[in-house]
Amino acid sequence: TVQDSLSSPVPVVRKRITGHVGFSNLPNQVRRKSIKDGFQLTAMVVGESGLGKSTLINTLFNLAICPPRESLHPAAERPKTVAIDNIHADIEENGVRLRLTVVDTPGFGDLVNNGSCWDPILKTIEDRYEAYLTQENSVKRKKIIDTRIHACIYFIQPSGHSLKQIDIEFMRRLHEKVNLIPVIAKADTMTEDEVADFKERIVSDLAFHGIRIFQAPIYDEEDEENIAETEAIARAIPFAVVGADPTKTFRASNGRLIRGRGYPWGIVDVDDPSHCDFILLRRMLVHSHMEALRERTADVLYETWRTQRMLELGVAQDHSVFDEVSPADRLREDRIMHEAKLAKMEATMKEIFREKVELQEQKLKQSEVELYARHTEMKEAMTKQWNQLMEKKKQLESGSSDVVSYSFYWVVHGLTV
Ligand code: GTP
Repeated sequence: TVQDSLSSPVPVVRKRITGHVGFSNLPNQVRRKSIKDGFQLTAMVVGESGLGKSTLINTLFNLAICPPRESLHPAAERPKTVAIDNIHADIEENGVRLRLTVVDTPGFGDLVNNGSCWDPILKTIEDRYEAYLTQENSVKRKKIIDTRIHACIYFIQPSGHSLKQIDIEFMRRLHEKVNLIPVIAKADTMTEDEVADFKERIVSDLAFHGIRIFQAPIYDEEDEENIAETEAIARAIPFAVVGADPTKTFRASNGRLIRGRGYPWGIVDVDDPSHCDFILLRRMLVHSHMEALRERTADVLYETWRTQRMLELGVAQDHSVFDEVSPADRLREDRIMHEAKLAKMEATMKEIFREKVELQEQKLKQSEVELYARHTEMKEAMTKQWNQLMEKKKQLESGSSDVVSYSFYWVVHGLTV
């Protein structure tokens, strides 16, 4: 039956192809397209003033992307609230372009009352989601300009104690809105053991407060290099980082140029994983997990925000469907609903038409009956009149003149014609 055929599973055909079909070239196509289009990453840096945010960004991209704070906000004009500064940079490496946007948040934690210093940051994250949603929903859709923030690097003061109240409050409010990447700033100011202890305390503090930071996923369970790298990243979080002025380099005893910080007792090499976690952070951000950051932003964080926003706007929908529906499925669903609506309208119109025809038919039948009745009545009256006249004729014929007979003929003839 139809029911049986619907409930039976669709057979899956698995064949090992021995000849060349050509679709193995697909990854190359994707790669070529990605190289042509370039990549785009928007990273936000948050932390109290002087923790080395600008220095770290400049070290990450080996460029003076973030200018010294004074050139952006001279001391006299420093914002009284948290400001949002966007810095754009186009970076090219071996022919691959990266459109980088750094969102700096000067003023965070610098105020006398830091009670709601996270509000402007939360607002800019949500405003960007709103801008994306508006473009997604617009009738004439061009290429969507995506300003959503893919990563928020949160700088923790290297106190060696535990997280401060402001750190917990900030991360608690933002962990479901953005990929949080906590880093211990200026890690060169602590010893190796102090860093390890501090990391442990931070991790347990985060777990205690139910704060979910970005967890780098393993892409390929069979790729040992990917597994090892992802595990190393997971162990290193929160990354203990050290920033260095990209314009200053040191020469090592073997002649190699070093980016780092010089001390009387030696040089802290930011690119040496035994000195700090800077390299791991950089690999995760722009190498191994950039796509994972972008994907989680689009598929989890933005989608969660979007669902809430739609519900706020009163767009109710079945939750079980709503959580998993992709824009294409949603369009299909809208089309099916529209078609069902049209079919319903058509059926209603057909019904109205049928009722009208039936009514007309009834009216016609009624008038037919009436006409027939009138016809019978008239026929009876005529027959009666005919019989009377015939009676008269007979009487006249039995004793009257030819003139009367002739004129009677014409009267009868006129009646019958
Ligand atoms: P604002 O722009 O005021 O928000 O500060 P910021 O967080 O951007 O700090 P910035 O990068 O301007 O660095 C402040 C000072 O800290 C500078 O003198 C840097 O040289 C120094 N600094 C930056 N990174 C490090 C680091 O990893 N270790 C040490 N010891 N000092 C650092």
